[in-house]
Amino acid sequence: MNNFDFYNPVRVHFGPGTVKDVGLLSKEIGTKVCIVSYRNLGFLEPLCAKVVQLLEAEGIKVYTFFEAEPNPDITTIARGADFCRNNEVDLIIGLGGGSAMDAAKAVAAGVFYKAELWNMVYSRQYGTEVVPPEDALPMLMIPTLPATGSEMNQCSVVSNRVLKEKSFIWAECLYPHTAIIDPELTVSLPAYQTACAAADSISHVLEIYINGEEDSPLQHSFQEGVMRTVIDYVPLALNEPGNIDARANLQWAATCAINGWASPGDAWTPIHQVAHNLTSLFGVAHGASLSALMPAWMKSFSSRRKNRYLQFALNVMRVVPGGKSEDEIIAEGITAFEGFLKAIGVPVTLNEVGVKDTDLDSIIDGVKKVSFGEGGMLSCIPPVSAEDIKKMLKTAQPA
Ligand SMILES: [Fe+2]
Repeated sequence: MNNFDFYNPVRVHFGPGTVKDVGLLSKEIGTKVCIVSYRNLGFLEPLCAKVVQLLEAEGIKVYTFFEAEPNPDITTIARGADFCRNNEVDLIIGLGGGSAMDAAKAVAAGVFYKAELWNMVYSRQYGTEVVPPEDALPMLMIPTLPATGSEMNQCSVVSNRVLKEKSFIWAECLYPHTAIIDPELTVSLPAYQTACAAADSISHVLEIYINGEEDSPLQHSFQEGVMRTVIDYVPLALNEPGNIDARANLQWAATCAINGWASPGDAWTPIHQVAHNLTSLFGVAHGASLSALMPAWMKSFSSRRKNRYLQFALNVMRVVPGGKSEDEIIAEGITAFEGFLKAIGVPVTLNEVGVKDTDLDSIIDGVKKVSFGEGGMLSCIPPVSAEDIKKMLKTAQPA
């Protein structure tokens, strides 16, 4: 296993109904709060009103920046940072799914960032030196979608619609102070969003599991646990949307998938690096962009990491090995996983998300621009070339 430096300071306040404590928990951190959430609040409107009420009951001055769009744009972040700076806000609350929380984090850092905000974002395009932020306002996160894990990590994913890029900021100052993880907030999620969230949670560990280090048994056990939990509980949540036990397990699995515990020393996310381009170029929802690629990725690259895929088949998809060859077990595992994704209702091909053959080169160009490493390859074990990606994308487009 690799050396690593692990740090995660986030206080987690977990459980059904815990959002009621937002006033008391916020009072410990700040006195002038800005809630960052979506431009179209939709079904979150009553929750936002309740949070405002709970904060004001504790004597906290509340501002709102309900301007985040799905895949928040860097221009929105800039406006949010100006708004918080001008109002001398001392605590940011991110309320919503990944886009709301990531916008909140980028705004919190943007308040102090002196240079062009896009310089915070990891991208190799134009040879620009990435300068991660070093300071941010304290943050409290209230996730309403069990997916991105943003509530307990140091990452914020943002977009630049002018450059047609989607990438991430990675900085220690982006760890929230506190996360209130209340599974009751997810019971009204529509089925498709529940399924897309599950695909995202799985991908956060699956990608490392099949593309990362071989000799990391404890990490692999963590990753298997996250995947099995999601695979077991998402059908229950889809059949019984109000099943709070299912919702709680999905919430905690999503958080643990990407808070660092499952993968210290190992952080390969090559499928995300390709999938981000489906979003930035064609507007495909994040979870769907991943589910549309995962089966093709596995079919394309399983022969390079047979042991990892064998473990996946046996320990995650619970393939019964009796009398089968290793290759048969691996193939059965991938088929079972693809079947699971289909069954929960997410796309498993590029055709289903409207990506055409003529679009493939633009996807590859995007991956090259943002994510290719020094050696002209996409980083993972073993590294993946542009030609490999093209073949994989074609596999995701069955005739
Ligand atoms: Fe993700």
